[in-house]
Order: sequence, then C-alpha cells, then structure tokens
Amino acid sequence: MNQYIAAIDQGTTSSRCMIFDHDGAVVSVAQKEHEQIFPRAGWVEHDPVALWINTREVVAGALAKVDLTRADIAAVGITNQRETTVVWERSTGKPIYNAIVWQDTRTDQLCVELGGDEGPDKYRDKTGLPLSTYFAGPKIRWILDNVDGARAKAEAGELCFGTVDTWIVWNLTDGVHVTDVTNASRTMLMDLETLQWDESICADFGIPMSMLPEIRSSSEVYGTGRPRGNLAGVPVAGILGDQQAATFGQACLSEGEAKNTYGTGNFMLLNTGTKPVHSKHGLLTTVCYKLGEAPAVYALEGSVAVTGSLVQWLRDNLGIIQNAKDIEPLAASVDDNGGAYFVPAFSGLFAPRWRPDARGVIVGLTRFVNKGHLARAALEATAYQTREVIDAMRADSGVELSALKVDGGMVVNETLMQFQSDILGVPVIRPVVNETTALGAAYAAGLAIGYWADTEDIRNNWAVGQTWEPAMGESERSRLYAEWNKAVERTYNWSE
Ligand code: G3P
Repeated sequence: MNQYIAAIDQGTTSSRCMIFDHDGAVVSVAQKEHEQIFPRAGWVEHDPVALWINTREVVAGALAKVDLTRADIAAVGITNQRETTVVWERSTGKPIYNAIVWQDTRTDQLCVELGGDEGPDKYRDKTGLPLSTYFAGPKIRWILDNVDGARAKAEAGELCFGTVDTWIVWNLTDGVHVTDVTNASRTMLMDLETLQWDESICADFGIPMSMLPEIRSSSEVYGTGRPRGNLAGVPVAGILGDQQAATFGQACLSEGEAKNTYGTGNFMLLNTGTKPVHSKHGLLTTVCYKLGEAPAVYALEGSVAVTGSLVQWLRDNLGIIQNAKDIEPLAASVDDNGGAYFVPAFSGLFAPRWRPDARGVIVGLTRFVNKGHLARAALEATAYQTREVIDAMRADSGVELSALKVDGGMVVNETLMQFQSDILGVPVIRPVVNETTALGAAYAAGLAIGYWADTEDIRNNWAVGQTWEPAMGESERSRLYAEWNKAVERTYNWSE
C-alpha cells in the first residue's frame, strides 16, 4: 500500500497530526501546545481560532517532515478533547466566545438548577450521564445566557454549536456541520438509544436545535478537505472522541475489553457491546463507536479530571520541576510518599464520586516531607484514582480485571506504571504503538474508505510493548489505599 492515513488529534494540551501506514506504525508526527486560559478560579478556556491555526500547522508539519503531499494521504480521521464547547456564527465562521473546556466548573449552579427536585440523575437514563459541569449542554446554555446577543442569534438560526471535532471538520471542509455519536454522547443532549438529539432535553436546557450539528457514525465520509487546504480533496472519514479513539486503537473491540488512557486526565473505558449498560457506581454510559451502518457499540467510562495536568501544575504553578519529564527522577529520589497524599480535586471530583464541591488537598505533611515526596504523591494520585474507577467497574460489571491495557503521555513513566500495577495487584500492559488515540481515529477513517478491510486488521496490528507485574504485598496495598481514601474525604464541602 503506497498511501497513508492521517489523524488529527486536537487535545486539551496540544494539537497533533500523525501519519500512519497500513501496519498501524507511525510514519510522521507534528505537535503544538496551545495556551490554557484561566480567566477566573474554576474557569478554563481555549481560543478556538488558535486550535484551528495549530491544527493547520501540524498537518503541514507532519506532511513536510517525511516529504509527503496530500496525494499520499488516503483519508484523514479526527479525534478530539471531548465536551469542550465552541459556538460560532454560521455566516462568518467566527466564534462568539472562547471554547469552554471540559474541566471548567462555571456551570455548577446552573447544573443544580437544571436538576431541580430530581437532582443530578434527572437525565441519566436517557443520556447515561449525571448533570455535571463536565458536559457540553450546560456550557452551551451558559454562552447563550452570558454572551451579548447570543440567544437572539441562536433563535434566528444564526449560530452553530460544536464540540472540537465539529469545529475542526467545519474548518477543514469549509462548512460541513457534523459530529459523531461518541462526541454527541458527551453533550447530555443525545438519547443513547435513538442516537439523536433529544428535543425535550434541548427544550429544558433552552438550546435551539438549529444550532446542533448532524449526528453521524464514527466511520464514514463526511466531506473532503477544502480546496485551499493542505488536505485539499482528502476524504474526512472518521471522527471519534479521544477516549473512544484510544479504546478503538487499543483494539478493545469485544465486550469486556478495557483500556486506561493517562493524559490531562485519566479515562478508562470498558466495551459493553451493543447495549448501553447503566452504572450504579458512578461511571458514565457512553457510545464507544459506530462503524457506518453497523449498530453502535457502548462503553462504561470512568473519567478522572486531573492526572497529567497535576504534573503540569507542579511545573507551571509551583515550579518544582522544569519539564514534565522531570517528575519521574524527582519522585524516584525518595523511597515512598513520606506519608503525604495529594488529591488533585481541581475541577471537583469526577468518577466515581462526582463531588463538584470538592477542592484539592495535600495531607499528611510533616517537616520530613520534601519536593520528592510531593512529586511521588502526585504520581500516586493518578494510580489511586485509577484504582477507584476499576473498583467501580468491577462492582458494575461483576468482571474481575486480569490485566490493564494502558496508553497516553504518562505511561512512559516507569515509576508510575510500577506503582499502578502494585496498587491494582494486576499486570499493566503498554502496547508497542502507544499513540492509540490518533491511531484509533486513523483506523476509523481507513475502515470507511476500505484502506483497512475490517476490525481484524486492527487486532492484528496490536502488539504488547512492555508489561509491569505487581510487586507489592496485599497488606501494604490495603494500608496505602485506606490512607488515600481518608485523604479524599478531606476534599469535600469546600465549594458550595
Ligand atoms: O473528556 C475529556 C477528554 O476527552 C480529554 O482528553 O487527552 O485531551 O486530556 P485529553
């Protein structure tokens, strides 16, 4: 095969373009970070125009690095930070406000109001989600209520809403207004069974349906690259939210298969087959993927808001490390956490606790504790939060985890991976191609145009890279986890 598949991964921290060959190997990559905008405590925004400009740059960069042109690209797939909300003018394509990022908590009061007497589970049966600041629906409502003239324009049909996939596809194709079922399932506006926007929820939220993109499958041709672009004429043929893309790229294609991605946050998804399974233990029900006309496949998801972004915070806000990778030697400079626990409830707590009132704490401090212990406590927080999600999955599904497939930026951290295996008591497995998010989007696009024949190709391309085995005794594991749980309870009731 002398053609390649490109994937655009527009994430929370950076935008990337990766080019893959038929074996699923990485041929080229270009990446660019963008600014995180924090206008007030709890608010997180991105400049949507910057996201698009960076996307264009990384596409051009990835092609140029290996001397390819658009003629070498058979299709492009899109994957994205989910829930992040952009609203723009239909006629000009200009955003009317910054993108409100998934981590932003400005809609906490609004969520309480929307829940009314029925509370946070009011829409759970239909959407699989609790009412939370995390999802896009309340963010759209906030923009309509707070940006001058927005509501009138929306009611006149002059505005478009999109999650970031929609925003990128709109720009890439010069105006195709679509999303896929996985991204739509993160808005709180889609019915999980019909896979269509739900009129009554949109009415409750005060969101005119004319703003919403058309919901399509995750693998089909939505349009082609605009004539002036670097991907002119290339079919845009796959869209998957980033966590669903990683699940697909990790070949979790059968019921009972799960992966955990360590990015800005941590996201574990368990494939539950073609029926949505409703959680009783704080997990989300979400669409995992839908390939063209085939039935949708669903997942249970444990979303943890802050993991990799805690490392960023140590770098940018405290300055105790210069680069994210410095966290590992610093953490390895001490034997253990020195009694300190760090619960990074910066956006409240997501799965499985869903406590918007929580805020971050560091507990167990004595004069003994130094920055090595804090670095260690920060890494351990990622592993403990993962354990909480796995416990919830076990309780919901009754399935015992025999091994954990991992991917994402933080899995290069050996100290973390060993501790993760220790605190779970099961092996942790990293595949050869760790770039499973971009790879998943590439697979969705490649399947749509017949570059890959079927999902067997995906299974065949997946291979074990490295495995970590648990080396901690059960009593130590239980002691540490009990202390972690005590620390988490200290985060509650900080914000009304
Ligand atoms: O739900 C949020 C998630 O999609 C963000 O992922 O990798 O950009 O942190 P990431």
